Amino acid sequence: MKEKNNAFLLLASVVAALGGLLFGFDTAVISGTTPFIQPYFHLNDVGLGWTVSSLLIGCIVGVTFAGRPGDIFGRRNTLRVAALIFLASAVGSALAAKLWVFITFRFFGGIAVGTASMLSPMYISEISPGARRGALVSLNQLAIVIGILIAFFSNYLLVGVGADNWRWMLSVMGLPALLFFFSLLFVPESPRWLVQKGRTKEAFDVLSRINGEERAHTELRDIEESVAKEEGTYREVFSKELRPLLFIGMLLAIFQQMTGINSIMYYAPIIFKTIGNGTSSALMQTIAVGAVNLTFTLVSLRLIDRWGRKPLLLVGAIGMIVSLFGIAIAFFTHHFAGYLILVLILLFIASFAVSIGPVAWVVIAEIFPNKLRSKAMSVAIVTLWTFTFLVSLTFPIILDRLGGGAAFTMFGVMCVLLLIYVIFKLPETKGKSLEELERVLLKKS
Ligand code: BGC
Repeated sequence: MKEKNNAFLLLASVVAALGGLLFGFDTAVISGTTPFIQPYFHLNDVGLGWTVSSLLIGCIVGVTFAGRPGDIFGRRNTLRVAALIFLASAVGSALAAKLWVFITFRFFGGIAVGTASMLSPMYISEISPGARRGALVSLNQLAIVIGILIAFFSNYLLVGVGADNWRWMLSVMGLPALLFFFSLLFVPESPRWLVQKGRTKEAFDVLSRINGEERAHTELRDIEESVAKEEGTYREVFSKELRPLLFIGMLLAIFQQMTGINSIMYYAPIIFKTIGNGTSSALMQTIAVGAVNLTFTLVSLRLIDRWGRKPLLLVGAIGMIVSLFGIAIAFFTHHFAGYLILVLILLFIASFAVSIGPVAWVVIAEIFPNKLRSKAMSVAIVTLWTFTFLVSLTFPIILDRLGGGAAFTMFGVMCVLLLIYVIFKLPETKGKSLEELERVLLKKS
């Protein structure tokens, strides 16, 4: 009889989370290259804006279409293709001599990011037992944060290598892409997907390795029952029954981006410049922001299955409200004494990392029924990327026209709404298997 094998489960989750690492790296690497690609390709500000955004547009396209191959060919196989696209994008954008080639390869990189941002958490959620799913899916967020950090450090190290520095910065991604591809050869397919394809015997094997043979019998029965219920069409995804769940996923996606996380992360140096804080070098800020982000994602990972998703969101929302309104007041009153702004920004990052950062991805990967998961997740995650795009497009304009006070007040108000939503509306999802959740959530909604 097969015993449950924790190392196997952890390894498969870590491999899938490499998709998150590439996601983090690819979205962050561009910031270090812009001072060099702008003169190289003779770009004005608008041109640069579009060149940078080509990745985000690719993400939206990737998420929109990744559900289908994920359903037809499997989560793991589609991730393998994404790994190859990551590789091609790294090499292609690094070697590009013409702007259209550069933009095209960045766009394809975006397709891979979008695909991984959906299928990595989905895969982990589908192989995890209920009691550990929160922590394992949060590994993906941990990997995103590590990917962002690697990009910043490698950009920092490579900036001095000469005129081709930006090419080297972009090519670094080839290494984790290769690692992702080869390590995906050693993990099993998602048991929930296998059942949908009628490959019950293989599904049972995977489930027994994860949970032991005894539990695997019950789980398999549960999954089969759930799969028999839906057909898996978009009509069902937008049906009255599923709409409340879709609403939860989309709202968490919007809230995650409307906290202003990416504005703070990527515009931190500009924010510091605006407020005239010459004391902290860009690198020190980056290290501080990265270290706090990483540490508090780890805290979240430890607590998400014990406390649950809601308590983390409550604590995090309160921290974000305090820090965002604090930053807004500092802007309104022009009072930026000492390290106050740095402390407030770090408090914000810590609060995000402990709460809506990982929790949004975890909840989006667990609330939908088996057969509708990929389509419904794709709707929620397209919403997430669309808001990433909109916020990054409008934040510099708002900062310029209305000032930091207005911008951070807006983000703060969104966190107040998040707090109210979590207190009054959001269901707790910790501990239950995906099939138990399906029964409870669909009955309620
Ligand atoms: C978000 C990204 C963000 C990252 C920062 C992720 O959960 O989706 O937009 O850049 O966290 O840690």
